[in-house]
Amino acid sequence: MKRHLFVACLSGAALLAVLAPALPGFAETEAPAAAPAVPYPDGFRQWQHVKTGLVTAQSPAFAVAGGFHHIYANGPALAGYASGNFADGAVIVFDRLAVEEGAGGTLKEGQRIVVDVMLRDAAKFAATGGWGFEEFAGSSTTQRNVGAKAKATCFNCHAKQKPDNFVVSKLRE
Ligand code: HEC
Repeated sequence: MKRHLFVACLSGAALLAVLAPALPGFAETEAPAAAPAVPYPDGFRQWQHVKTGLVTAQSPAFAVAGGFHHIYANGPALAGYASGNFADGAVIVFDRLAVEEGAGGTLKEGQRIVVDVMLRDAAKFAATGGWGFEEFAGSSTTQRNVGAKAKATCFNCHAKQKPDNFVVSKLRE
């Protein structure tokens, strides 16, 4: 009798395993879905310029963060800087370019090093504060440096900025 019960349970489990992928919502509970990809921010050079920073060779951070840091915001992100609340669809771009010495103590932009992107989608990117993070290598629109490692690579540092919705920069006039 006991044995029959065991077999029945087993076949029940087997049946569930076969049917499960077809059951709505099962896939999400079985394994956490990978975070959706953050698209390349096409045309961001036409967006609003937020600010520029410069990390020169004199900085201890030069190896990892050296260069010009230009930040751009799309329309929804611009509204977010003003209100403090970023709506889904807001995108902020951090465009990092090498710094080159020009003549007579001048500095000028060199090659693009990376394009960092934050895309607001509170539901999709709930695990990283409602922001999707990605970094595109050089001027490539397809070569991704972050992928599924957004939490460790980007978010853990931006997390300190929680009161400002994880956005560090401020929009200047
Ligand atoms: C060590 C801390 C740190 C890490 C790690 C980090 N950031 Fe940032 N990020 C900053 C700071 C500080 C600023 C503001 C820079 C400024 O105001 O000039 C910033 C600014 C930004 C901005 C402009 C919006 C804002 O918050 O001001 C974007 C976009 C961005 N980072 C994306 C990324 C991405 C993508 C990654 C991972 C590849 C990443 N960041 C990793 C510290 C960090």
